[in-house]
Amino acid sequence: ASTTDNHIVWHDHPITRQFRENANGHKGAVLWFTGLSGSGKSTLAGACEQALASLGVKTYLLDGDNIRHGLCKDLGFDESDRQENIRRIGEVAKLMVDAGLVVATAFISPYREDRQKVRELFGANQFFELHIATPVEVCEQRDPKGLYQQARAGKIKNFTGIDSPYQEPLQPELRIDGRQAIPDSVTQILQLLGEKKIIK
Ligand code: PPS
Repeated sequence: ASTTDNHIVWHDHPITRQFRENANGHKGAVLWFTGLSGSGKSTLAGACEQALASLGVKTYLLDGDNIRHGLCKDLGFDESDRQENIRRIGEVAKLMVDAGLVVATAFISPYREDRQKVRELFGANQFFELHIATPVEVCEQRDPKGLYQQARAGKIKNFTGIDSPYQEPLQPELRIDGRQAIPDSVTQILQLLGEKKIIK
């Protein structure tokens, strides 16, 4: 046990991540999807989860829109709230990886530094940054929730890609063309997980 300066002691429990990974027959890991609103993060993350589930892999999907209804409902979209949003998701994902799951997260996560801090919570071969690279013009044309239109009209402030930045990953584990067919992207991701020995 180690003690921090605020008298909180870390307790090691008898059932470990390794024990759970052995029981599950696969490792725990994070698939960190990042990209613009409308880039296809949530759809692709959902499709990956389905493919993994059909292989018997235990998964969980943390999705921006859903998490902002609960855990992060006190947060908005300025820089510091987005930073806190991503920090919380990183910590939750870490718990889920400790529980032996393959966690998919679908958050814009526009700031490089915030994604880097999350990466640092994980060991080698546990964190996979997947950039869903869809040009902003394509996202705006798709506009599935009509949000780009509202942002253009000045009804939504700090909208990513319009009046708030998106910092592309420099060295993601995978960069995926958000315009290609979903099954092709799923294949790329599952192949990566196989190569990295997360799944068999
Ligand atoms: S972030 O930047 O990672 O904290 O954002 P995230 O938690 O993923 O939430 C993004 C979804 O919130 C909706 N929304 C906005 N997005 C960007 N900018 C602004 N200002 C904004 N306001 C609301 C939008 O539906 C995003 O959903 P996705 O799935 O990304 O399209």
